[in-house]
Amino acid sequence: MAKLLGASTWEAELYEHLTTHEAAEGAMLAEYREVAAASSSKAFQYLSNLIIEDEIRHHRIFRDLAAALKSEVEVDPEEPDVPNIGTWGHDAVTVLRLTETLLGHERDDAKELRRLSSELKGLKQESLWQLLVKLMEMDTAKHIEILKFVKRNARKALKQDS
Ligand SMILES: [Fe+2]
Ligand SMILES: [Fe+2]
Repeated sequence: MAKLLGASTWEAELYEHLTTHEAAEGAMLAEYREVAAASSSKAFQYLSNLIIEDEIRHHRIFRDLAAALKSEVEVDPEEPDVPNIGTWGHDAVTVLRLTETLLGHERDDAKELRRLSSELKGLKQESLWQLLVKLMEMDTAKHIEILKFVKRNARKALKQDS
């Protein structure tokens, strides 16, 4: 495994965690792909593919985090794969405005999904549908989390400016 030049113990350990976890995510991804291909169940393949999409992203995020840590420790002048918060492109006002609009839409979306979810409770038989709507609700919660993070930080940037 690649070592970090000039890293503190804490940084070296964190780097190790990130890179081993990245490898584990990669192995899990391969496992899901095999399992999905081995089964003749369309439902199982469909659900495994949903997980595979997430695992591809997890694998990438771990790689980005490790690369970002490496470029910070080695004082690489290039922008890391995980960007610094910075000044929101010197335009925190626009970022804040866009974020508030998006947050509103996501919250509407969350309500809509909740309604859909209770409608689906009327279905006699359990199907993948209920699960898929529930997963979308979870995704929406994630999107709201991202936007709240941006909003909080863009506000902070504006305060520091004024
Ligand atoms: Fe994962
Ligand atoms: Fe969304």
